[in-house]
Amino acid sequence: MNLIIFGPPGAGKGTQSNNIVNDFDLKQVSTGDLLRNEIKLKTDQGKNIESIINNGELVPDNVVNVLIEKIISDPNNFNRLIFDGYPRTISQIYTLERILKKFDQKISKVFSLNVDKDIISKRINGRIICAKCFKIFNVYFNPPNSENHECDKKYLKKRVDDNSKTILGRFETYVIKTSPILDYYKKKGSLCEIDGNQKIDEIYNKIRSILGNIRD
Ligand code: AP5
Ligand code: MG
Repeated sequence: MNLIIFGPPGAGKGTQSNNIVNDFDLKQVSTGDLLRNEIKLKTDQGKNIESIINNGELVPDNVVNVLIEKIISDPNNFNRLIFDGYPRTISQIYTLERILKKFDQKISKVFSLNVDKDIISKRINGRIICAKCFKIFNVYFNPPNSENHECDKKYLKKRVDDNSKTILGRFETYVIKTSPILDYYKKKGSLCEIDGNQKIDEIYNKIRSILGNIRD
């Protein structure tokens, strides 16, 4: 099955994708991570992406769509992808549908994590990510310890775009540009809205029970 996980910045898309990957043998595709990898390459395109991300805006559809097509066309990924943070515009939805059709696939379920704005700020401010194993932690809500993290503490880093100014921009971009596209999946009947204000495990239990009933 292919899934989409949708939600504002800091909603828990990456956190829940990590859980799903472990239990359902799927592969996570975070366009944010893919774009951050492009930045590391220090190409002209990477520099352009960096300034867009740091302003909390959306990277142009064509740039993101090329990255996505590469992943879907890989036979190793056939019917086992979780799209985390993609699509974010109606044009990205149409592109995703076109590519999936080309490779004889579809989306089984779209999860949308609904989280209040004040909770989002605290989650993003407290987020730390391991640069080695890529696990996501939170100094307030989910701190790393010897039981949940094996790598050295020196690998734990904050994301460059996790600062108060960019967070506001990211949230605004989500409300104006991305949240309206949820209607598309609502009309299709594939949308499942989840209260993302709850604890990580509570949210995941809901997702897991829904996924357990999907047979494709
Ligand atoms: P992206 O990296 O996708 O950032 P985002 O959408 O802002 O979402 P985040 O990654 O910040 O949050 P998350 O929902 O994954 O939360 P997480 O699980 O980490 O995109 C970055 C940028 O790239 C965009 O701004 C844009 O510029 C560009 N971009 C990306 N995709 C694009 C696209 N398709 N088109 C165009 N441009 C694109 O959790 C956050 C924190 O909260 C963690 O610390 C976690 O431990 C904690 N936490 C999670 N769940 C809970 C919970 N239930 N209770 C308590 N704490 C929790
Ligand atoms: Mg994320």
